[in-house]
Amino acid sequence: MICNNIKKENGHLHFAGLDTVELAKSYGTPTMLFDEDRFLGNVNTYITAMQSAFGEKSMPLYAGKALCFTHLYRLLREYNVGIDVVSSGELFTALSGGFPAERIYFHGNNKTDDDISFGVSVGIGYFVCDNLDELLKIDEIAGAQGVVQNILVRLTPSVDAHTYEAVNTGKLDSKFGVAIETGAAEEFIKTALSLKSVKLCGLHCHIGSQIFDAEPFVMATNTMADFCIHLKNTLGYNVEILNLGGGIGVRYLESDPEVSIADIVAEMGKALHNKLDSSPVEFPEVRLEPGRSLVADCGMTLYSVGAIKEISGVKNYVSVNGGMADNPRFALYNAPYTVILANRADEECDYPCTVAGRCCESGDVIQENVMLPRPVRSDIIAVLTTGAYNYSMASHYNRLPKPPIVAIRQGKPEIVVRRETLKDLLSCDIVLNVKE
Ligand code: LLP
Repeated sequence: MICNNIKKENGHLHFAGLDTVELAKSYGTPTMLFDEDRFLGNVNTYITAMQSAFGEKSMPLYAGKALCFTHLYRLLREYNVGIDVVSSGELFTALSGGFPAERIYFHGNNKTDDDISFGVSVGIGYFVCDNLDELLKIDEIAGAQGVVQNILVRLTPSVDAHTYEAVNTGKLDSKFGVAIETGAAEEFIKTALSLKSVKLCGLHCHIGSQIFDAEPFVMATNTMADFCIHLKNTLGYNVEILNLGGGIGVRYLESDPEVSIADIVAEMGKALHNKLDSSPVEFPEVRLEPGRSLVADCGMTLYSVGAIKEISGVKNYVSVNGGMADNPRFALYNAPYTVILANRADEECDYPCTVAGRCCESGDVIQENVMLPRPVRSDIIAVLTTGAYNYSMASHYNRLPKPPIVAIRQGKPEIVVRRETLKDLLSCDIVLNVKE
């Protein structure tokens, strides 16, 4: 199995120690399961790996865009971690979970004036400033609120991370960040240092997502380290915080390579020490920003099989009671997933099919070329590794209510996000009395 929290027992698929068929009975489908123990284990893996690679002052920041709900922040606030938010909505969710504002980093290439005001007013730790417009706006808003706001600056290190285009963000041609290569970054930093209501605390980069090799991370680390040395030598500026972003990949298929977070982090640590130990730069506090690699393998989605359509000589369609509304990743990126018939997990998988969703468009597919035991209506289909960028990217397309999230902690399931009702779908509708 692609992750050790998944097992087959007595013909049923088990997740986080529980029988998924029983869970589907208790909570209905579609439902997203969340393995809380696995999540906290992944958090500890990062904390340990970073402390040994970068020293005690380093810490991971959880990138909440991967999966965002209140309970998750309640769990995280007890740990030596920070978080990355990209909108007032994520910030509000984190604060509602009691996560301390000073450990929050606010990202995004186009923060609105309202985002900035909200962040400054709640005493957010850092804005990761993406461009000059935003820098000046933060200075203005912080000045008006009578505070000095900590910031980092997001840089593009011109590293091509060799992943799919939608998540390849470290190249010169990117909507994110200020380029080192063109000299824009240095100019930005001079401006930031001259402003009264912002304090420039360091640098950030994020080269992309779903990356398996250490090499692009090491390249980015080297480029950022060289730039730290350059800033020290030319401007006398010492980078206190160096945030090297997220992006470590996860296994969606058995054929995906094994990934060792500890090894990749250790390689980055070695590279940074090699560059900085013999330089005039004081070793910075390092941050990494994992999203996917903290939550992806903590998630599994359960669906029920509905219609089955066999087009002789062409294809078999197995439709489930969810789809692109709760998981748009195949429709968007052709994303691979492992699919298992959870209630007949021991049976031979000799039936080729496309697992389709229930939305009114042909592109609504969960996965192509799946081999299953020949399914029948009401069988339970499990889609593995759905913790990252599924619930957080879900929509109400076709007015489908969002599924619940059931967290499992030490063998005990608990609803942490309830299933939406039909009434929830109307919660923002304003009904006017239109005369016939
Ligand atoms: N930091 C920044 C600034 C980011 O933009 C991202 C992800 C992360 C950290 C976390 O990266 P991760 O460790 O999760 O790879 N919707 C796409 C993924 C978009 C990633 C956006 N940024 C998908 O479903 O594959």
